[in-house]
Amino acid sequence: MQRKIIETADGSKTIHIEDWDEHYHSINGAHQEAMHVFIKKARERIAERKEISILEMGFGTGLNTFLTLQMATELNVKVNYFGLEAFPVNKEELEALNYNSLWSEGSNFFEKIHDSGWSQKVEIHSNFSLTKIETKFEDWEAIPNTFDFIYFDAFGPRVQPELWTIPIFEKVFESANVGAFFLTYCAKGQVRRDLGSVGFKMERLSGPPGKREMLMGSKSGCQH
Ligand SMILES: C[S@@+](CC[C@H](N)C(=O)[O-])C[C@H]1O[C@@H](n2cnc3c(N)ncnc32)[C@H](O)[C@@H]1O
Repeated sequence: MQRKIIETADGSKTIHIEDWDEHYHSINGAHQEAMHVFIKKARERIAERKEISILEMGFGTGLNTFLTLQMATELNVKVNYFGLEAFPVNKEELEALNYNSLWSEGSNFFEKIHDSGWSQKVEIHSNFSLTKIETKFEDWEAIPNTFDFIYFDAFGPRVQPELWTIPIFEKVFESANVGAFFLTYCAKGQVRRDLGSVGFKMERLSGPPGKREMLMGSKSGCQH
């Protein structure tokens, strides 16, 4: 499928998939969206923890990974990050996105994130280890009760409805630790109800620029 790099409203770039008319991030601001939906929400909920594990469904350009690493250094928290990706972005696209410029002191880490091999745990920084797995989420074997935060950043239900289904959400729920938070930019009522039906306690939160709402779920100790 044809992919094109475009500039979004906050000046940061993203990838546009022309055949689907779908973007990797919001056209109202890729950087702002990543910060609002994932990084700030996680930051506000890390509390006093010294070490956390994060699962990202849809590693993509590595933007969420890079910004989470920045957060880990600022908070001095240790992050074990798992990124699942079925169709990795190529080197030319990564260069054109120029995400280094979003955190200039950390710019060499963006290359480190992408140069690290797949299917192995790599220490990117003393505060940050990364395990990238090249797989379809459907084929990935869940690691039960492991992740404290889940960044669910698949393409939208309009283009990939198969990733917004109860069996997928059950696998996510199984992977989540007790006390975990599930975060997604998607605010669809059916998605919220289906996530609730697999066991997450769901909340609507205010969305990033251009979007009224987003969803957050939490996994409590007492299961239904
Ligand atoms: C919205 S983009 C993710 C953006 C990414 N989080 C970032 O910061 O750049 C969705 C990603 O999911 C990936 N993807 C699509 N189908 C998938 C599947 N079945 N399993 C895992 N990843 C998939 C796409 O290749 C794409 O990279």
